Amino acid sequence: MWKNIVAAPADSILGLTEAFRNDPNPQKVNLGVGVYKDDAGKTPILACVKEAERLLLEREITKSYLPISGDPVYAACVQKLIFGEGSEVVGSRRAATIHAPGGTGALRVGADLLHKFMPAAKVWLSRPTWANHKGVFATAGFSLGEYAYYDPATKNVDFTGLVQSLKAIPAGDIVLFHACCHNPSGVDLNHDQWREVVAIARERGWMPFLDFAYQGFGIGVEEDRYAIEQFAASGLDYFVASSFSKNFGLYNERTGALTVVSPTAAESAVAMSHLKTVVRVIYSNPPAHGGLVTATILSDPTLHRQWLAELAGMRERIVAMRSALVDGLNARGVAGDFSYIKQQRGMFSFSGLSDATVAWLRQHKNIYVVGGGRINLAGLTSNNIDYVCDSIAEALQS
Ligand code: LMR
Repeated sequence: MWKNIVAAPADSILGLTEAFRNDPNPQKVNLGVGVYKDDAGKTPILACVKEAERLLLEREITKSYLPISGDPVYAACVQKLIFGEGSEVVGSRRAATIHAPGGTGALRVGADLLHKFMPAAKVWLSRPTWANHKGVFATAGFSLGEYAYYDPATKNVDFTGLVQSLKAIPAGDIVLFHACCHNPSGVDLNHDQWREVVAIARERGWMPFLDFAYQGFGIGVEEDRYAIEQFAASGLDYFVASSFSKNFGLYNERTGALTVVSPTAAESAVAMSHLKTVVRVIYSNPPAHGGLVTATILSDPTLHRQWLAELAGMRERIVAMRSALVDGLNARGVAGDFSYIKQQRGMFSFSGLSDATVAWLRQHKNIYVVGGGRINLAGLTSNNIDYVCDSIAEALQS
């Protein structure tokens, strides 16, 4: 079968992890995939997760299937986390949440559900966006478009371009946003800008779909949900894909959720019925462990507090690495103003490094950066920061 079929290219992000693993050089540095590392370069299991797992092991009495939509306690915890305590959306049962296998699983279930009822819609992605967004929505059968988002000249949001793009998108199309910590650019909309985007959504009648993979990595768990709250207050239909890979460190447990918000509880029940039909034919029902861990932490006040503290620790270390990188480049006299790296939010920085520099760093210094110049700040540690700054300085001067 495969004789006349050419091999597929490696994944632009996970393929880099594979290449990194195979690199025998002890000095190698992985600034590619969005995985948190501590200052020792390890991806830790959070202490609150370990404690929740201990409790679960003690309490677990069955491995029977979960419902198609997952554990209802998990869904309730997710809704409280993404909409906030006492949210009207939750109180009036306008949100339908299913446990999906990771953020990617949530996006794909959402894409399949939308395609069932809006097959002719176009899905609009920010320019640039997470590489996998294109694959997920195209594979679900959608044609894709791009809206203006990042301006390389100002290293900020091109808000005029964004508004122009959004106003030209017709009713019935789908627009994907990053709710916080835009991946790959690290630049987010401010509050006024989000309110304007919501007003355009209302005026134009397209469907907002918010990818919420980094809640708590921007400013904080509550602050980072601003966009979700604004869309909630608008009364519009919209979708939210959550991931708990990063903020709970549950990467390999594939713990995510898809939430469909509707104007009324009756419509929400219809949405849930179709969500189940979509899930049933892909993976039937979700894996339990990650959802149980998350729900255990979020419903126990002590573990919840501990999680918030551990999450703050991760966020603060990344902020410290932003400063260390900027200071390190300045100290080496690298030409240019790198202060924008300090203003960006989340795990990533669009470093401004060209693809040629990215290739040079990999070939000569065993430093792995995603094409386009996205750096995972969490890959920097006090041990490798000097090596990385020296290498970037050499790359830019050579
Ligand atoms: C990333 O952007 O690096 C992460 O979201 C991991 C992934 O699956 O690509």
